Amino acid sequence: MFIRVLGAAAGGGFPQWNCNHPNSRLARAKNPNAKPRTQSSLAVSLDKKKWFIFNASPDLRQQLWQNPELMPVKSDPLRYSPIMGVFLTNADVDHTAGLINLRESQAFNLYATQRVIDVINKNSIFNVLNPKFVKKIPVKLDTYLELLNSDSSKSGIKVKAFAVPGKVALWLEDVNKGPNFGSVEEDTIALEVYNQETGSSFYYIPACANVPDWLKNKIDNADLVFFDGTLWKDDEMIEQKVGIKTGKRMGHISMSGAEGSLKAFEELQIKRKIFIHINTTNPALIDNSEERKKLDKAGWEVAYDTMEIAI
Ligand code: MLT
Ligand code: MN
Repeated sequence: MFIRVLGAAAGGGFPQWNCNHPNSRLARAKNPNAKPRTQSSLAVSLDKKKWFIFNASPDLRQQLWQNPELMPVKSDPLRYSPIMGVFLTNADVDHTAGLINLRESQAFNLYATQRVIDVINKNSIFNVLNPKFVKKIPVKLDTYLELLNSDSSKSGIKVKAFAVPGKVALWLEDVNKGPNFGSVEEDTIALEVYNQETGSSFYYIPACANVPDWLKNKIDNADLVFFDGTLWKDDEMIEQKVGIKTGKRMGHISMSGAEGSLKAFEELQIKRKIFIHINTTNPALIDNSEERKKLDKAGWEVAYDTMEIAI
């Protein structure tokens, strides 16, 4: 199974359009230690011919340019896409706005929880996905589901979705619904992606607010985990005067600190653990930073666009 990182940054990308934080400035200056990154997405394939996209980022068009395997080749029909399906883990703008790039009459399957499908159905801009061609398939939690190719044949890839601590998408928050803004279990899911033929699998967890014991037990001994790397420090955006929210308020665990992901994963035996969905302010984005050294020491990698892993 081939996994290609289409976008390693969090919402806004790296550098973010309106951010003048030193990290973003380094990236704009094309400093080799500050590789730009597009917004959060993975692509998965068994044969590098048919691909499934996990989260549709607003940068999808650029991501296809960066990954030509995801575009048609000469021998393909005049209208064709190797993208067989799209799987959404939440309704965040960085994970759904890219659907608009897939407009017009092209067949693919769209997988998401019923909650997220309802959000898509309610917003008429997504009518650009012609329902005669795009099949929306609701995903049941904690149940294996075999992904289907755009012609409805079986892909050989199974996915099990499960709810993780998180919150409803920022643009859907309802301040009248209490401290969790009306969030429900289906708002934030993680995926176990499984190759039926070889039995290999990996976890994709791009948003997660904390790591309870059940989640530790679930991912312990995994070969590969992609995990929410939004912030280094819970209050880094406030401290650096580029925002007013903590990571906790945004539904994202931070890397450092007693409640952080480094600590939570310390005792776990995971062959490869890779941070993804990394915010433009996170100092660990910078290759030669002290924070990156700490990640290296703890056995973590930091995803970058076009990174490819075969398992
Ligand atoms: C998040 O991950 O918290 C969201 O993508 C934030 C946003 O909507 O920009
Ligand atoms: Mn996001």
